[in-house]
Amino acid sequence: MKMQYEYEPSPQQRAIIEEPRLDIPLKVVAGAGSGKTFVLAHRFVWLVTSGKVPEADRILALTFTNNAAAEMKMRIKRLLRLNDHPITGELWVHTFHGFAARLLRECSYQVGIAPEFQLLTEIGQQVELNRVIDGIIAGDFAQNRALDPDRLAELSFSSPDAFRVLLVRLIKYAKRCGLSPAQFRQQTQELSERFWAAMPTACEAGNLSGAEALILEVQQRLGRAFGEDVVAGAPVDDAKATRELRRFYYSDLRHEVLRDDIDQRRMREQEIERAIIDAAEAAYQLYQQRLAEADSIDFDDQIMMAEKLLAGNADIRRRYQERFQYILVDEFQDTSPAQMKMVQVLAKPARLRVNRGSQTREVDSYCARCPARKPG
Ligand SMILES: Nc1ncnc2c1ncn2[C@@H]1O[C@H](COP(=O)(O)OP(=O)(O)OP(=O)(O)O)[C@@H](O)[C@H]1O
Ligand SMILES: [Mg+2]
Repeated sequence: MKMQYEYEPSPQQRAIIEEPRLDIPLKVVAGAGSGKTFVLAHRFVWLVTSGKVPEADRILALTFTNNAAAEMKMRIKRLLRLNDHPITGELWVHTFHGFAARLLRECSYQVGIAPEFQLLTEIGQQVELNRVIDGIIAGDFAQNRALDPDRLAELSFSSPDAFRVLLVRLIKYAKRCGLSPAQFRQQTQELSERFWAAMPTACEAGNLSGAEALILEVQQRLGRAFGEDVVAGAPVDDAKATRELRRFYYSDLRHEVLRDDIDQRRMREQEIERAIIDAAEAAYQLYQQRLAEADSIDFDDQIMMAEKLLAGNADIRRRYQERFQYILVDEFQDTSPAQMKMVQVLAKPARLRVNRGSQTREVDSYCARCPARKPG
């Protein structure tokens, strides 16, 4: 039976929506407002009505915001009705967080948390983080030579507030990436060391190109120098970053600052970075401890815990892999590393292989009506 659409799809849209193979990954790359979400909702319904996945609750659709999830759910229900398909059971159309929360409540025993765990709001998270960090600043921090007020000023942290803002950003960043406090320390420290080991040679050679990739990586991870947007995971403006680097390192060379000065500067920066990493790790750890004591988890924990649950428990993993015959992700480009890990562990090995070169079928510019060509 031919499926009823909301609107007549373009040939490219139809090709994706009605792709009969379920075991190949599909990735839709097209401009803003060109009908990607339309494709996703219709693919969901086509899978059900074509009999490929007749039970609607065996498809998982993930969206980015609560509004998007609510809209998607309504749209899918409307389309199912339009196609005379009865709706039984609860649809799995969620945000990443909503999905993770549902998973954790279903498996709270295995996760080892109270089923009625408290979910910390974003404001609650901020308050608790501030409290923990203020404690560190007032206590350990005051005794930490590397971060005394003079050092803070040198670091261009105008105040403890600015320092706290950085730590909050780093912790949020670590959580977005799905890193535990120890993993955060290990990764940032290793990056920092690699970066500073590469820097003198690159400066001496008067050629930064080899070090640029490293610098970008480190600065993204440490969230310094280029501000908030880098840490928030926005695409790095390469040109801007390169310019900044040139200004920072080349200008010194051009003005024939002695190599000793560069070395000194490097040592100081490295020491500061180490101190920041120490403080961030300590604050992150303490924060998690406080939450555990209060049977609370925050938004990011949901994703990390769900991923850990699936990765670490073969029975549960198989159960959910069996349950979800197909997974759809809207706004895929905005998926955080932690969210990506969760989807990857949930997808049966062959089902989700996006972004892996030849395995990926990219469907580009399928919508001729759309002049905008920015990927989205
Ligand atoms: N084939 C089509 N015929 C008519 N209207 C369409 C078609 N495909 C999509 N639309 C409509 O175009 C609008 C934008 O579609 P949609 O939201 O799916 O785009 P998108 O690519 O997901 O946008 P965004 O980049 O904002 O996420 C919607 O109102 C949708 O119903
Ligand atoms: Mg969309």
